Amino acid sequence: MNSKKILSCGESSKETTLSLKLLLFMKSITSQHLALAIGCFLTSPLHADDLMIADFEGESYAPWTVSGEAFGSGPAHGPLAGQMNVEGFIGKGLVNSFNKGDDSTGTLTSPEFRIERKFISFLIGGGRNAEKLSLQLLVDGKVVRTSTGPNEQAGGSEALQQDAWDVAEFFGKSAIMRIIDEARGGWGHINVDHIVQTDTKPKGVLQNAERQFIASARYLHIPIKNGAPKRVLTLLVEGKEIVRNDVEIADGKADWWAPMDVSAWKGKPLTMRVDKLHEDSTGLSSIEQSDSLKEADDLYRESLRGQFHFSPRRGWNNDPNGMVFYNGEYHLFFQHNPYGWGWGNMHWGHAVSKDMVHWEELGDKLLPDTMGPMFSGSAVVDWNNTSGFGKDGNPPLVLIYTAAGNPTVQAIAYSTDGRSFTKYSGNPVLEQITGGNRDPKVFWHEDTQKWVMVLYVELQGKHTIHFFTSPNLREWALASVTEGIAGTAFLFECPDFFELPVDGDVTKKKWVLLGANSEYAVGTFDGRHFKPEQTKLTGHRGRGFYAPQTFSDIPAKDGRRIQIGWFQTETRGMSFNQSMTVPLELKLVSTTEGPSLTFSPVKELESLRGKSLGLESMTLKPGDKNPLDEFQVELLEIRTEIDPGDANEVVFNIRDSMIIYDAKKQELTVNGQRAPAPLRDGRLRLTIYCDRTGLEVFASDGLCYMPMPFSSKPENRRIFLETRGGSANVLKLQVHELRSAWTTK
Ligand code: FRU
Repeated sequence: MNSKKILSCGESSKETTLSLKLLLFMKSITSQHLALAIGCFLTSPLHADDLMIADFEGESYAPWTVSGEAFGSGPAHGPLAGQMNVEGFIGKGLVNSFNKGDDSTGTLTSPEFRIERKFISFLIGGGRNAEKLSLQLLVDGKVVRTSTGPNEQAGGSEALQQDAWDVAEFFGKSAIMRIIDEARGGWGHINVDHIVQTDTKPKGVLQNAERQFIASARYLHIPIKNGAPKRVLTLLVEGKEIVRNDVEIADGKADWWAPMDVSAWKGKPLTMRVDKLHEDSTGLSSIEQSDSLKEADDLYRESLRGQFHFSPRRGWNNDPNGMVFYNGEYHLFFQHNPYGWGWGNMHWGHAVSKDMVHWEELGDKLLPDTMGPMFSGSAVVDWNNTSGFGKDGNPPLVLIYTAAGNPTVQAIAYSTDGRSFTKYSGNPVLEQITGGNRDPKVFWHEDTQKWVMVLYVELQGKHTIHFFTSPNLREWALASVTEGIAGTAFLFECPDFFELPVDGDVTKKKWVLLGANSEYAVGTFDGRHFKPEQTKLTGHRGRGFYAPQTFSDIPAKDGRRIQIGWFQTETRGMSFNQSMTVPLELKLVSTTEGPSLTFSPVKELESLRGKSLGLESMTLKPGDKNPLDEFQVELLEIRTEIDPGDANEVVFNIRDSMIIYDAKKQELTVNGQRAPAPLRDGRLRLTIYCDRTGLEVFASDGLCYMPMPFSSKPENRRIFLETRGGSANVLKLQVHELRSAWTTK
């Protein structure tokens, strides 16, 4: 999985020259910037003649003096309550100003000491705020050196990093050190450890280290080390900044390689710039160019790759975005971090499929820009070319997204081939309402002949949905604001909104407004106002399902409403992380709670069926031989219909995942997660899909949908069915081995 070799600099002779230039360039920078050293080669050993200023290994800070609350009364021994894991300090203790959280403030001051070595080196972590969070050196009462932590935004890392000052000019003087925390709010704390006077020159760090390339292939491959300090990596084309990302760049051996598609600039000079790079780092020099992914031998066959759930080739995904049917293809865009295993650097990744089952990933289509990262949104086909973005009679495909900078605004982009996208020059199309406005879902409202945008807006701490209308997708006017139903907290982020017939009767249609956790409200809509008609209902009943969206523009003759959710399947050790659920067909059916959603796997998934087992109807009693003994596969679909008779429980064990139906309580439990699952006509109808990292279980004719990320040993293929407490009548039992949906080229 991990990188096997450290690479040479370039491929062509032109590049070799450029690489040499880079080395020279790096050298010149090294001498200029040696004073500031930051890197991840932490634990630099204490040299014989080093002098320890403070190792913070005692019970109290003495002889340092403390004021305020932030530092507590003595050194911390790792993370404090509510803090992410703190690592990279030496020994047991460290200074940690997260005592009482980010809002507390304080100061820690050393006794006087004499400067007797050329350098002072130390470990530092926490927030980046040179003014309010700093370690300072004072000589003659003046601050002569300062350092702050590395983190500026949500996410980040609590790992301490090495830093150092050149203090030769103060040799022989008396000095004090001070650690201040005057910051409140996110990353309002500082961590420090292991302050040492030394004559051993600390490793230098290059500021704005650069490497030049001539774009000769499709990708530049960036070495990633999960958990390494985040560096700002900027791509410049012909000297102009194109995109900036926060990247956990590997200084040495990479965990995986993130491809950056530079095909748009073939033949042009490119510069990769890193804000800070350790002088020994191979982060830039190991970047290679090639036309295919690196280390792709097992692409789509990796041990934790869902075989019929979409996941990105490399990097992280969260929400599905811009789901639309256009020119005979289903398009699935998605929140993508191409350069990290975790969330960040939001791009819109893009994949297409003819059947929603076999996907081809095409690369990132919306890149972060000066308006911010590209947050979630939707897509529509503008059949009447109201936007004017159409060309030669081709209706444009329009993406509507949140540009999550400051301000956070709504913007659009368009395409007439479903492949290349242009951001509208008049963006944004909707100014910020509050900083918490995002995730526009747009659709064409036939009756009023207007576009409608459904937008999540956090308004004075409340979750609201704002409705806007537009004649052309470019100009939007507020139509109404929906705050909640009968006092219940309302739907949170990533709204979806669509109309569905009730019980299949097209003369009885209702509108469904759905939030990110798949709770929803059913009601009426006149093109401007949504009126909920019943209390909020629960959508899925499992875990790890979020921010679902439905396809726009599925042809009327098909008429299905099909949803895909973000499936939070964690894939540690892989070069990708997370995935999407299978496509789910949604319907509204009457229940005692009013019209309710049902979820079922789309019929297209049947194309994956391989060898099958169909069992005659049978009575199953406790202690009977497992009817599925002979069927041992990794990927499977089970469909069964059972009359529970006098059994208390009907139990499937699928590769160590327990699916238990309690017939008395009419409740389904999947790996410990319980949900109501009423019998329908006295029958339990159950559909189970099992992939490498997730199960999806459907019961009660789709009223109970339980997605469930799981991990199973690949070699464990045992499945069994049993009853407990009595016998049940198994009326139908079909088991299908499923093929992988990935066709690798
Ligand atoms: C939901 C969400 C959205 C936002 C996106 C950012 O998972 O928080 O509200 O647009 O993710 O990646």
